[in-house]
Amino acid sequence: MTESVIQLVGIHKYFGEGDARLHVLKGIDLSIRTGEFVSITGQSGSGKSTLMNLLGCLDRPTEGAYLLDGRDVATIGDDELSEKRNQDIGFIFQSFNLIPQLTVVENVEVPLLYAPGVKAGPGRAKELLEAVGLSHRLGHKPSQLSGGERQRVAIARALVNDPVMLLADEPTGNLDTQTSEDVLDLMRDLHRQGRTIVMITHDEDVAAQAERQVHIRDGVILEEAA
Ligand SMILES: Nc1ncnc2c1ncn2[C@@H]1O[C@H](COP(=O)(O)OP(=O)(O)OP(=O)(O)O)[C@@H](O)[C@H]1O
Ligand SMILES: [Mg+2]
Repeated sequence: MTESVIQLVGIHKYFGEGDARLHVLKGIDLSIRTGEFVSITGQSGSGKSTLMNLLGCLDRPTEGAYLLDGRDVATIGDDELSEKRNQDIGFIFQSFNLIPQLTVVENVEVPLLYAPGVKAGPGRAKELLEAVGLSHRLGHKPSQLSGGERQRVAIARALVNDPVMLLADEPTGNLDTQTSEDVLDLMRDLHRQGRTIVMITHDEDVAAQAERQVHIRDGVILEEAA
């Protein structure tokens, strides 16, 4: 890992074509150091999830450069990029993206199928589900869970690879105060263990838990509170 794991330089992102073309990210410059815990806040529609998709290499910028670990992702082929993504990055998506046919514990194990280099013991998924308070729901299907429980499954899944970087989109969005606190504790532990964490949130109190707060408005970074 280089000192800045993430360097965004003059990033623009457009969606659509012609009259329907939408300018979502309008010149983002952002560096995130290895091991930093950063929160990103901003109104609905300001481009937070779009930014997270770029950071996680799920999408590419229209303009500008993204250096991941010192390498320009534009020069990395799709295969190598997905390998890097599966081994090094944990995702907590805003919409959870759980697989309906699989049980809770199988959902958590999914990233292990795509990252053969990752050595996680067979008990790792259960351990994480216990940590998020779901050991009594291992055999349930996502449709049998509440919103907050689904969110906690998504959190366990994001951690099963032991990723060096965690990207979390509203990880506490559907959780009650106590469970939010537990999830934030988990993130603080990961941060202490040296993981880089980028957490998107609407909630100012949750954002304040991070080491550094970045605010995005209308596709640009407005201010960085210390
Ligand atoms: N794939 C897409 N195609 C077209 N427009 C998109 C696409 N993804 C996002 N947008 C648009 O880009 C803008 C920013 O979306 P984004 O999801 O990044 O917002 P956000 O800050 O995450 O909002 P929220 O807080 O509601 O999750 C929105 O106006 C959205 O409609
Ligand atoms: Mg979003």
